[in-house]
Amino acid sequence: MTSDDPLLRPPPDGVEHRPASAAARLLMGGPVVLVTATWRGQHNVMPLAWHMPLSTDPPLVAIAVEQSRHTVELISHGQEFALNFPGRPLLHHVQYLGALRGDSIDKFEATQLETFAPTHINAPLVAGCAAWVECEVQESLPFGDHVLFVGLVVAVHVDPEAFGDRWAVGAREEVRPLHFVGGNVYSTLARALEAKVPQGFEAPERALAQRLAEELELTREARERREERRAALEREVERGNLVDLDELEDEDEAAAAQRGERLDGEIDLSQGVILGEG
Ligand SMILES: Cc1cc2nc3c(=O)[nH]c(=O)nc-3n(C[C@H](O)[C@H](O)[C@H](O)COP(=O)(O)O)c2cc1C
Repeated sequence: MTSDDPLLRPPPDGVEHRPASAAARLLMGGPVVLVTATWRGQHNVMPLAWHMPLSTDPPLVAIAVEQSRHTVELISHGQEFALNFPGRPLLHHVQYLGALRGDSIDKFEATQLETFAPTHINAPLVAGCAAWVECEVQESLPFGDHVLFVGLVVAVHVDPEAFGDRWAVGAREEVRPLHFVGGNVYSTLARALEAKVPQGFEAPERALAQRLAEELELTREARERREERRAALEREVERGNLVDLDELEDEDEAAAAQRGERLDGEIDLSQGVILGEG
């Protein structure tokens, strides 16, 4: 018997507790950015995952930078920064840049990242990204061990293949933004899901239950389709034929990952010739 009072209802089975530090990781998953900043002719770049939009009018965004970062120094003096949105081609650069400190190394020199000129500020923009946002600092506030820089957006530039009026989820993987989930793990937006809300004439709880049932059915069908494709590929491998594992890693990849499955490890790779690994 469940209580009518939601504040007395016990959590569902299987719910686990985590330390307070997990809250930040739960909130992560937005596109990771490379923050560029310049002061007295010194340019620096650091990856950053803690950011948020704050206001549409005026357009304000905020970034949280740990107090010891060299970037804090540069932004505090220069009062400007740019957000560069890297994609998969810069995956390894992003991780490496996070291990370097701009006060002891010229990161642009070390990584040979190409840059180009901003239109409104003085920090360089990183070439090969999917989008760029130029900001002037409107406010900086210390919070705990981080400094929150509130930036007024003064210019936005995009690669139109990556971003029209929103991220193009179905775009080529090379131009999709990178999403950081923690450690050295990133993801890209694999699939667009369109939400459908109940129409005025529908009872909301019935309409929502119906949509949920449709979703579950779609998931089941997708899994069956993938299993059929995998069986076909396995037959090819047994015959010693050339197979391309990328065929499996299409629209069902995200769903499979969610179920904790690895797409490639399930096939006996000891025979045949495999493409698309790694
Ligand atoms: C993917 C990724 C996301 C990061 N996010 C943040 C962040 O939100 N805030 C922060 O202070 N440091 C963050 N870091 C760590 C800094 O990028 C790292 O300490 C960097 O070396 C600082 O450079 P700097 O000292 O030249 O400013 C992140 C690192 C990585 C790899």
